[in-house]
Amino acid sequence: MKLTAAFMLLALCVALACAESKGSPDKGNELFDEQCASCHFAASVDVKVGPGLKLLFAREKLQSNGKPLTDANVLEKIEKGGSRMPAFKDTLSADDKADLIAYLKTL
Ligand code: HEC
Repeated sequence: MKLTAAFMLLALCVALACAESKGSPDKGNELFDEQCASCHFAASVDVKVGPGLKLLFAREKLQSNGKPLTDANVLEKIEKGGSRMPAFKDTLSADDKADLIAYLKTL
């Protein structure tokens, strides 16, 4: 009985860990093409309207606000936008944003 409970707890932890790191780069790629590619190159660092996002996650800081390159700060950028970037807080779901971040990490 005790063992079953311990096992279930373990299974729950594994399930939660999976939920944490979910995010499909393929879906993110589709979203990027629809929502972001008009302003951002994915395969270059050249400026289109906004900065090119190639190797974004290899950088130390975001160019736009100098914050460290973390999932949370990229998410904040996507949600709040910027001076010339629209805010996507209400137009993208939490899953969409996780997919986008998973995709941005592949650039
Ligand atoms: C209308 C044009 C436009 C669209 C659409 C747009 N962006 Fe941006 N984005 C910008 C501009 C301009 C900047 C830089 C200046 C600023 O922050 O406003 C920027 C900055 C960023 C940055 C910060 C880069 C850095 O180094 O600071 C990220 C990350 C980003 N955009 C991701 C996205 C994603 C993901 C999408 C799609 C969901 C998106 N952008 C859609 C114009 C746009």
